[in-house]
Amino acid sequence: MKNLTRYLNSIGYAELCSAFFPGTPRLTTWQAARPLVYGSRLGNFYRLLLINEPVELVAFTAEERDLLVPLLDRNILQRDRQTVRSCGFSLFMVLGNWLLFETPTPNPTVYYGDDSFGLLTRLRPRAEGRTLDLCSGPGVQSIYCAAKAARVVSVEINPLSAAVAEINRQLNGLENWDILVGDLYAALPSNEPFDHIICNPPLLPFPDELPYPFVGHGGNDGWAVTWRVLEGLPRYLKPDGVAQIIGTTLSDGVEPVIMARLTAWAKANQMDCHLTILSQHPMAPGYEYFDGLAFSSAAMNISPLDEIKERLTQFLVDNHATALISNSLYIQHGTGKVTTLDLFDSTRAHAGLWYV
Ligand SMILES: C[S@@+](CC[C@H](N)C(=O)[O-])C[C@H]1O[C@@H](n2cnc3c(N)ncnc32)[C@H](O)[C@@H]1O
Repeated sequence: MKNLTRYLNSIGYAELCSAFFPGTPRLTTWQAARPLVYGSRLGNFYRLLLINEPVELVAFTAEERDLLVPLLDRNILQRDRQTVRSCGFSLFMVLGNWLLFETPTPNPTVYYGDDSFGLLTRLRPRAEGRTLDLCSGPGVQSIYCAAKAARVVSVEINPLSAAVAEINRQLNGLENWDILVGDLYAALPSNEPFDHIICNPPLLPFPDELPYPFVGHGGNDGWAVTWRVLEGLPRYLKPDGVAQIIGTTLSDGVEPVIMARLTAWAKANQMDCHLTILSQHPMAPGYEYFDGLAFSSAAMNISPLDEIKERLTQFLVDNHATALISNSLYIQHGTGKVTTLDLFDSTRAHAGLWYV
């Protein structure tokens, strides 16, 4: 792996990846560079490893073909007699770290997206501390924390995602990152608490009974997995530890639907929460987030788009929900108070979810 990453650096592959904004990984944006690099050494690797295009084997030198062997051995690439192609993965660079993940599609399983970056850029791992990354996927946040923390433990329920995380560990030469497969805290080998617990869970509010990509389905209030993460937090967070979780939920335009339950949890467990509301978007047909959620659900090919839109509309009416809000959540042991900072400003447009 080291020889591969060294070579990719030498031909400008990392520089090219770094030219794309890492907060909005989009295949179409990457593909736009195709004519500019086509036919070069860099262009061959860019087509194979970034935009997921088959490349004729003869385009690579014998030395270059040797460099691809570790990715062929790990089923990230496959070859036939004439060509070599990616098995659906892209190798990208995020904040100077290599990141292999599933080439962006409407229904990914090995996920990296704008929410990944939204959590990543907020992280405050403790120097020499231990970080626990729940719902770690291919591991972008774990990779970042491993540079500062003494040890990172990540837990991911999808074995394929965890296997890709292991390749990311090797690509970045990290020795202090343990990758576990399992369901949240149940995957941990002991009760030893952590200095820092982080989570980017499946976070979109969507009716429990409607299909939605697993990596994003956060249940009726968007916090189905988050509530389970909170349940274990008092026990697994050290007395002076901090937790950082991002999420989205529904609102009636005044108060997020999770507020009463979060307040009760904080009080019962003597945990202090800072909830920062980052954006608010209308949830009705014709609006970006309503249409986007319905489209992602329909992309699973279980129910037709019109039916999904109808059921989603009814679900929103039943729950008095008119808006989607996005939030970051910062938690420490304390006296049980919840502080809310609402950064939504109705007088100006909010683009995206994670920054004002
Ligand atoms: C939104 S993705 C986040 C992945 C990665 N942390 C990131 O931000 O790029 C959510 C991840 O949670 C995983 N997941 C869902 N339920 C889980 C559970 N109960 N335990 C562990 N991982 C889970 C999914 O497989 C998926 O990889």
